[in-house]
Amino acid sequence: MLRQVTHLSLFFSFVLPSLSEDLPQDARFSAFQSASEEANATVDAVLALAVPEGYVAAPWYPTPHGGWTPDWAESYAKAADLVANMTLAEKTNITTGTGYFMDRCTGNTGSAHRVGFPQLCLQDGPLGVRNTENNTAFPAGITIGATWNKELMYQRGAAIGQEFRGKGANIHLGPSVGALGRKPRGGRNWEGFGSDPVLQGIAARESVRGIQDQGVIATIKHWLVNEQEMFRMYNPFQPGYSSNVDDRTLHELYMWPFAEAIRAGVGAVMSAYNAVNGSASTQNSYLINNLLKDELGFQGFMMSDWFAQNSGVATALSGLDMSMPGDPTVPLFGDAWWAFHLTEAVLNGSVPVDRINDMATRIVAAWYQMGQDQDYPEPNFSSWTDDAVGLLHPGALISPQGVVNEFVDVQGDHAAIARAVATEAITLLKNDNQTLPLSSSATLAVFGSAAAQNPDGPNSCADKGCNKGTLGMGWGSGSADYPYLDDPISALRRRTSNLTEYLTDTFPSTIDAGEDYALVFITADSGENYITVDGNPGDRTVAGLYAWHNGDELVEKAAEQYDTVIVIVQTVGPILMDWSDLPSVKAILFQHLPGQEAGESLTSILYGEESPSGHLPYSITHQESDLPESVDLVYFELGQPQDTYAERHYIDYRYLNAHNITPHYPFGHGLSYANFSLSTATLTSLSPLTSLPPPPSPKLPTPTYPTTIPNPSTSPTEAIYPPNFSRIWRYIYSYLSESDALRAYDIGQSPTTTPYPYPAGYSATQRNHSVPAGGGPGGNPALFEPIFAVNVTVTNTGAAASTNNSTSNSTSTYTGHAKAVLQAYIQFPASTQSSFDTPPVQLRGFAKTRALAPGESQEVELTLTRKDVSVWDVARQNWVVPDPAGEYLVWLGWSSGQLGVACSSVTGVCAERERGPVGLGLSLR
Ligand code: NOJ
Repeated sequence: MLRQVTHLSLFFSFVLPSLSEDLPQDARFSAFQSASEEANATVDAVLALAVPEGYVAAPWYPTPHGGWTPDWAESYAKAADLVANMTLAEKTNITTGTGYFMDRCTGNTGSAHRVGFPQLCLQDGPLGVRNTENNTAFPAGITIGATWNKELMYQRGAAIGQEFRGKGANIHLGPSVGALGRKPRGGRNWEGFGSDPVLQGIAARESVRGIQDQGVIATIKHWLVNEQEMFRMYNPFQPGYSSNVDDRTLHELYMWPFAEAIRAGVGAVMSAYNAVNGSASTQNSYLINNLLKDELGFQGFMMSDWFAQNSGVATALSGLDMSMPGDPTVPLFGDAWWAFHLTEAVLNGSVPVDRINDMATRIVAAWYQMGQDQDYPEPNFSSWTDDAVGLLHPGALISPQGVVNEFVDVQGDHAAIARAVATEAITLLKNDNQTLPLSSSATLAVFGSAAAQNPDGPNSCADKGCNKGTLGMGWGSGSADYPYLDDPISALRRRTSNLTEYLTDTFPSTIDAGEDYALVFITADSGENYITVDGNPGDRTVAGLYAWHNGDELVEKAAEQYDTVIVIVQTVGPILMDWSDLPSVKAILFQHLPGQEAGESLTSILYGEESPSGHLPYSITHQESDLPESVDLVYFELGQPQDTYAERHYIDYRYLNAHNITPHYPFGHGLSYANFSLSTATLTSLSPLTSLPPPPSPKLPTPTYPTTIPNPSTSPTEAIYPPNFSRIWRYIYSYLSESDALRAYDIGQSPTTTPYPYPAGYSATQRNHSVPAGGGPGGNPALFEPIFAVNVTVTNTGAAASTNNSTSNSTSTYTGHAKAVLQAYIQFPASTQSSFDTPPVQLRGFAKTRALAPGESQEVELTLTRKDVSVWDVARQNWVVPDPAGEYLVWLGWSSGQLGVACSSVTGVCAERERGPVGLGLSLR
């Protein structure tokens, strides 16, 4: 049985090339591509006019060779030996997918078996192995973000990595840190970890480490500024939207989590679909060659998002290393932007030999870096069917059959990790009168269809493209199938028989209303643009930021009938809660997207076996208009939709604080059943501050190879189909016919051919020095040196006090253990504001304590780096400490709105303040 019909919708995402700074058409390239690239140039000229003034994607060439940082040196040495023995066709083969639906995985590269390099399997998605069975459906990225627990972030990553390895997938297509969550309505924010670069960055770093420690190549995606779903892709009628962003904002917000992933050694990066400052992400040389591979020192390989590639030569020169899934504009006909066309482009001299060598070396080096040359399993599943036997190459139509699914169970004991994440993410926003935890004798009435799993089965909608029943994940390629779904109602039934169930979203006309508590389950969903759910094309266009399925009315009606209403929200992101101040709405819990473990995780909190310890990974505003207009979705525009980041580096709480707008619930907020205090806080300077980091060390030498264009007539064949080669119709190969190969070679050798019209600014000369902000993985290593250590004691002082004056329903006093989340925010010296305006406070670190018994304490240390106290100086193109002698304040507290202990970088003293820079203060014992 065909597994996922929704994949077909991607076929209609035909790609029209279009760029502002792109290369002119390639006179030496194939006729097919020349025509497309020529059309491009014309469209580009028109589009370039649409990008607002000041947003530029400058040309930046050539692509830096990989292999210049010490941490990758050994893998590059091995890769160089292997690549030196590859033919041209073998090199191009490993850079290009074999075509959509052609092999078992979301994407598969070609191989170079002759020299021992296998086909690689690339598989979605960020919360578990997609399109298979016997896997764990982990809580989504936003949910692990809400735990603020670094160890769990690592453990979840490690468990995901084990499952990908167990299925034989070489490359995990996650984690996602772009979208960052700039737009609350953005469809795919839930795949990432929250609307702050430091939270995203730490979660990405821990996830990458966990995944790659299992030998799986992680893919950090989507590079870059991919903040909404609608109009993301180029199509024959319209180019994808252009995210227009200034350099400082790129560095301080959107590149930050990628830099952390690169520091953690991530092996792959995936492009975005959209353009950035007018130039498509797959061929934006500034973004890939300069920012990613030079400044951030990325040593792995850069792949296109699926069908995001828009041209042949331009993408190669701009730094793309792998074309996914291999098909060009019109998929499934055996054509490609690369593969045999790339072979041809190297033979005819358009793409330098040195560029294809670097592409291949980067891919092979990443494979060695993860140890995949040692006993790595082959894929044992098919993304395209759930039958054991099926077509080996389903997209080929005429294909041999074979065993494609071995149903390998990779779950191990990962349910426990998934449950720990789902539990620790639960965020208690409100708990008047200590309504929670519930006593075991409490009588409950449960409302809302989200309490129970989809009656048609939790996997009945392909890629979760419906919102029916418990919402454990959003929809799209970031979803995975549930092995089971432990829904809240099952877990409640296991706890109590004092339960009346009204599992619909319409409030019943007759109810008894005699129960102590009404538990109301509501949801808000979003996903990827190729599926529209209830009128929402990925982004929350129709639903807005309100609960789905009349959720608000359900809460309001329950609040009319019951004195004590507990609202449980399963959501992709912030929602507006106009009902939250109704007197009967006593408690609000966010489950975020709990994955398969939605039930017991919730009841363990409701009944007080554990104290809630989740904190919001985004702010929740009173109204949508509390955020700037520029973070609204962009809709249809003639030509290229323009998404201009006019708010600059002021998103989420950075914006709200700067404009004195009190959020409904601030970023980082989350209540506990216990109270915590901070005591004996100190700040220690670890290293003297200078305004600029010391210059980085020079780059190490990178592999070198002969740069002569190979003669296709030599043996083993460099480019020509071997005799009697058996071809599968529509499969993508890297070989050329003899006549095509010889023609291309002749062009490349002919002194009279017009050379490829490289763009202004094009150079083939490698820059062997490091830029000041570069020099190591993630940037200049000096940026990551610890500058300040903040030490503080966190104590569980006992049960939380009642949070309002009402006396009704105050039922329980919690005496159990509880975990606290300590957050540290930087405030730059006032003296710096005239030169570099900075948000009032910015998150720079956090730590979750162990479960502390009442009266128990834990010492917590957070370190801040030079980068944490720097701003991006556009003119100097470097991270600058704006006032090294000035007083930096490190604010400690429980959310971006509850900061009351300030540690001074000048005195080292941490003192209690009545008010924080924003919101209320805290007491320091
Ligand atoms: C498109 C999505 O944007 C990307 O995240 C995913 O990995 C690929 N499709 C493959 O499904």
